[in-house]
Amino acid sequence: MDAAFALGIQVVIGSEKERALEAETSGKTLTVNYLKPDQAADRIAAFDRRWPLDAIVGTDDETVLLAATASMRLGLPHNSPQAIAASRDKERTRELQRKAGMGTPGFRRVLFDDDLETASLDVRYPCVIKPVFLSAGRGVMKADNPEQFLAAFDRIGKIVRRPALSRRGGKSAKYLLVEDYLPGDEVSLEGLLTDGRFRLLALFDKPEPMEGPAFQETMFVTPSRLPAGVQDAIAAEAEAACAALGITHGPVHVELRIHNGVPRLLELAARTIGGLCSRSLRFGTGCSLEELVLRHAVNFDTRPGDESGEASGVLMLPMERSGILKEVRGRAEAEQVPGITELTVTLPLGSDVVPPPEGNSYLGFLFARADTPAGVEAALRTAWGKLEIVLAEPAC
Ligand SMILES: Nc1ncnc2c1ncn2[C@@H]1O[C@H](COP(=O)(O)OP(=O)(O)OP(=O)(O)O)[C@@H](O)[C@H]1O
Ligand SMILES: [Mg+2]
Repeated sequence: MDAAFALGIQVVIGSEKERALEAETSGKTLTVNYLKPDQAADRIAAFDRRWPLDAIVGTDDETVLLAATASMRLGLPHNSPQAIAASRDKERTRELQRKAGMGTPGFRRVLFDDDLETASLDVRYPCVIKPVFLSAGRGVMKADNPEQFLAAFDRIGKIVRRPALSRRGGKSAKYLLVEDYLPGDEVSLEGLLTDGRFRLLALFDKPEPMEGPAFQETMFVTPSRLPAGVQDAIAAEAEAACAALGITHGPVHVELRIHNGVPRLLELAARTIGGLCSRSLRFGTGCSLEELVLRHAVNFDTRPGDESGEASGVLMLPMERSGILKEVRGRAEAEQVPGITELTVTLPLGSDVVPPPEGNSYLGFLFARADTPAGVEAALRTAWGKLEIVLAEPAC
């Protein structure tokens, strides 16, 4: 909404919630069911006949399929709904990568109804076990041996059997994907596609090791400190992944690991980076990632001038255990660390803190800017050290 306001673009919010952001949109809202994209596209098309729309932008994993379906209906530039569906299914992603000749970790589907003891003796270790349809690290676990494999199946099974998730997952909630674990540094990138042409917007290093058994996103620092040749190879791998999946239009958020010096795709989503992380990015003379995406959607110029050259980063506040959020201590001290530009605790006090693999919500975000990526990382680490997350034990 801030980006639209800055650009003078009028927005109609389509949401599963009734009258979402009504005040910010002067009452222009539309209630749509994300789980029924065709029906929702009908509603959007009816709206468009009265008040024509110039673009439909999905803002997260749940809405990108609907945005693509509705854009297709209205004849607006779009990704094919099949490509979006493939990007949202971690197994389909791997199949299309393989078909396109891209390197992938070995992968196989294991059903909850399979003989898990036998499966646990068949797979290669270490492996990563994950549902194909979730995000934010939910249900993703590493196993080093058959005992951990069986324990992970049990734990992830409890997550995907929750009614809301099993409804969302449908048939996909009946199995898990088991992949070879790829050791290596992890990076993520933001890209923008026009008619299949890929443009790299930002490449983030993730300086905190992510080695399991659960995988929590924490620190992102840009620009990357990797050698130029590796950065080029990362962009090429991301571009190849877009082509393999058939993603041709709009923003992409791509996650990769540098395994034995070679970038390997972890996954690709046809949206921008999650949470508030995009606040760490500024393009040209202060343009936000969302402004760039909206400019692109309505065909404005998307070359916002020279980059500032400054480094920046974000720390998604790490959650060490679960409990009820009572207080975040040391906020003033953290905010005063040189280079820190913002600290936002997004989880309301009194809410449940639930780290992955069970949880998928974020506690808060710490942002930094400095002359160099190393300066950004140092500022984030110093400020992180000043924060104390105070939790109460859950009631039961
Ligand atoms: N094959 C693999 N080898 C090594 N690490 C992996 C592998 N698959 C997943 N991971 C780790 O688990 C994390 C989460 O996995 P993945 O991206 O597939 O799930 P996700 O739930 O979509 O996560 P998010 O939404 O946070 O990106 C990855 O960022 C990576 O650190
Ligand atoms: Mg991921």
